Amino acid sequence: MQAILFPMANGNCQIREVKTPSPSAGEVLVKIKATALNRRDHWIKKGIYQGAAFPCIPGSDGAGEVIKTGKGVNKKWLNKEVIINPALQWGNQQDYHQEDFQILGLPSQGTMAEFVCVPEENLHEKPVGWSFEKSAALPLAALTAYRALFFRGELKKGQKVFITGAGGGVAVYLIQFAIAAGARVFVSSSSEKKIKKAISLGAENGVLYTGDNWTKNLEELSGNQFDLIIDSAAGENFGFFPSLLRTGGKIVIFGGTAGKIPELTAAKLFWNQASVLGTTMGSPQDFENMMNFVQAHNLEPVIDKIFPMVDAELAFKHMENHEQFGKIVIKID
Ligand SMILES: NC(=O)c1ccc[n+]([C@@H]2O[C@H](COP(=O)([O-])OP(=O)(O)OC[C@H]3O[C@@H](n4cnc5c(N)ncnc54)[C@H](OP(=O)(O)O)[C@@H]3O)[C@@H](O)[C@H]2O)c1
Repeated sequence: MQAILFPMANGNCQIREVKTPSPSAGEVLVKIKATALNRRDHWIKKGIYQGAAFPCIPGSDGAGEVIKTGKGVNKKWLNKEVIINPALQWGNQQDYHQEDFQILGLPSQGTMAEFVCVPEENLHEKPVGWSFEKSAALPLAALTAYRALFFRGELKKGQKVFITGAGGGVAVYLIQFAIAAGARVFVSSSSEKKIKKAISLGAENGVLYTGDNWTKNLEELSGNQFDLIIDSAAGENFGFFPSLLRTGGKIVIFGGTAGKIPELTAAKLFWNQASVLGTTMGSPQDFENMMNFVQAHNLEPVIDKIFPMVDAELAFKHMENHEQFGKIVIKID
């Protein structure tokens, strides 16, 4: 089969002929029709993701057709069009994943190939009428956004949310989901154009996080007092977040794109009854809830650009340069 391969840390993507995998007991073989990028794939490509090993076939997001079933798998999946849940071996707990939890695409072979083997329990039927590209744009980012907002953040209708880095793959789902749930949404971004796009999705307003006075600007636009802040950048700006919350407000964090969290003033957290909560992807229940939520609200994944497989390197450059608003998809043919 043809696969997109990272040959070495910091190397360019290569399209290579590799051995087609065969499903073990409990697994199926999926013919991948479309895949999508996540920041994780970019970190792996750079060689800075924990456990990165080369050569490797990356990719957590995928949609395609089941063409073979391993021993013990329900035959109903044969020839079904599916979306893959990339949270492998989450376990039975809703609160946290078990120790051998893995993300599809490292250490196991990922979805940036013509075929991939995945456990039966990670299959979901592709919604009727959805293209493979749209379906591949959903899994990892939408799952992460759903759990961050609703399970960890406990977002309620009418609450005020601040979502940082509006252009990111997860951030766009956060904006869409929070608006669909009836929340008031404010964003930050490095780009005025992306703030405008967030507003066109229903956000009230936004500020440039790159500006010196971003907290003052945000206060003028929103009055601060946020019920919830959702962040995946960390870095210096995180130090301001406790002062943007209402008493009893929450910060939910799921990434560290901009580096370490600076020193925080303890009193800003304890005196204000603030919570800082971590979250990662989601449970099988979160995935199912997310799929139902997306369909119940008729939400459309925002796809920034679709690249052909031969242009995989350009797709990664697009992410590296922070050019996207939403998901970057690769069509596998
Ligand atoms: N724990 C998990 O389960 C999980 C799941 C998914 C992602 N993540 C992590 O979450 C992060 C985002 O992932 P993604 O796939 O959505 O990435 P992405 O599509 O590449 O988006 C990254 C976005 O980060 C924003 N950003 C960069 N520096 C920032 C800063 N200083 N302040 C605020 N925003 C900043 C940019 O927003 P603008 O373009 O608007 O400036 C950029 O578009 C990554 O660190 C990723 O590893 C974690």
